[in-house]
Amino acid sequence: MREVIRTVNLYKRLPIGGHELEILHDINLSIYDGEMVAIVGPSGSGKSTLMGLIGGLDSVSSGKIFVDDIDITGLSERKLTRLRNEKIGFVFQTFNLIPTLTALENVMLPRQFSPTRSGARERGEALLEMLNLADQMHSTTKRLSGGEQQRVAIARALINEPALLLCDEPSGNLDTVSTAIVIDALFQVRSETGTTVVVVTHDPILANQMDRRIELVDGEIVNTEGTLV
Ligand SMILES: Nc1ncnc2c1ncn2[C@@H]1O[C@H](COP(=O)(O)OP(=O)(O)O)[C@@H](O)[C@H]1O
Ligand SMILES: [Mg+2]
Repeated sequence: MREVIRTVNLYKRLPIGGHELEILHDINLSIYDGEMVAIVGPSGSGKSTLMGLIGGLDSVSSGKIFVDDIDITGLSERKLTRLRNEKIGFVFQTFNLIPTLTALENVMLPRQFSPTRSGARERGEALLEMLNLADQMHSTTKRLSGGEQQRVAIARALINEPALLLCDEPSGNLDTVSTAIVIDALFQVRSETGTTVVVVTHDPILANQMDRRIELVDGEIVNTEGTLV
């Protein structure tokens, strides 16, 4: 099985008030191609920090992170930005859409920064159709419900055909009905595109539907459960 993500002896420390706070402690994990993995744990356990490191949004204190066998801890800012654009899609709790643009325009935006720009419209339309948003494609996103906006954000994260989709509390701002719709959308993504999906969540319903769960407490992995696909 191919590893999409591998971390080796990963630490994150931050200087706080004259001493160093250890936020992540010796994280060793692998995530394999096509998996759906939940990262779970109490608030403040380091889930978002870990996701930010895996996605190359933040720098490690020590250790290594391999994305598709590339050590991202050694990359220049320019190469890291390129790798992020090409290989990683991000979905956040707050959808971060541009409210005055249509769903399709939001989805097409990241394509502006990709070397393979052609076909943006066709791919954007296909993604929105896949996520059952064909009828909302030309609505400005401020008019859409939370669940619809999060599905637009998922489509946007997939426009550059990333190997990896990273979602931080994707249902954190949604009611139970919208949560179920967004969970379905993530499964749809995996089955139709084969994208590896990592979801940070403290929603047990969402976590239990994933192939594996990696549990953090106080910055350490305390448990991994589930089966490799
Ligand atoms: N920039 C920062 N400055 C100070 N403390 C931080 C910073 N980022 C994270 N932390 C602390 O690190 C810990 C882990 O945070 P986080 O990764 O956001 O946890 P989670 O996503 O699991 O709730 C928390 O105790 C948080 O307060
Ligand atoms: Mg968090």
